Amino acid sequence: MREFIYYSKNAVTAGNMIKDNLMKAGRMDIVCNVIISVFFTSNAMRDDVKLHLIFDGPPNAPRHLVLESNEEMPISKKNVAGLIKRMLYKSPDSEGLLEVFPGASIERKSFEHLVKELDSEGKDVLLLDEKGEDIRKMNLNKKPVFIIGDHEGFPSDKKKFLKKIDKVSVGPRVLFASQVVTVLHNEIDRKESQ
Ligand SMILES: C[S@@+](CC[C@H](N)C(=O)[O-])C[C@H]1O[C@@H](n2cnc3c(N)ncnc32)[C@H](O)[C@@H]1O
Repeated sequence: MREFIYYSKNAVTAGNMIKDNLMKAGRMDIVCNVIISVFFTSNAMRDDVKLHLIFDGPPNAPRHLVLESNEEMPISKKNVAGLIKRMLYKSPDSEGLLEVFPGASIERKSFEHLVKELDSEGKDVLLLDEKGEDIRKMNLNKKPVFIIGDHEGFPSDKKKFLKKIDKVSVGPRVLFASQVVTVLHNEIDRKESQ
């Protein structure tokens, strides 16, 4: 299982705030690009992949959305925002994942709570950061969970919280979040095919 957490400080947390201009919905356009990179290759959907999205924008933050590869998940590259919008409309204002569609669930949960929870499940939680250890030198034997920031990275309180987490780099340049996902998938694909 390849697992990712994408954190967005500004992504909106109500369905009616997602309109035609996704950039105005707290950069929901970037969220959509990340989702496409996490789940799709040229003509197939990756299996065994899970994506956690934490949206910390107005008006109902925090929201934790989980997408998990599932043949029945109603996801199309052309309407990723529509799926997010429908999930936000159905979101409970409490903890406890509500499955809105097969492979698509939502709840109220903070970034910190999610990271602690995955860590306590014995997963190897790693922060993607260009200054981290080179992914090519790392041994990814345990179940890895990769944390990615949005276009602004992480706010100072989240940076403080993430201080003790090991950092992993996919290369020396600062890339778009969706590019990081593509490169990371490729590195793991190559390792797995050796
Ligand atoms: C567009 S970058 C954020 C840039 C932002 N201005 C900052 O200072 O963090 C989005 C996210 O991609 C990840 N990232 C970018 N380049 C990376 C690299 N070379 N290796 C690993 N992760 C990277 C980081 O998690 C970052 O928060």
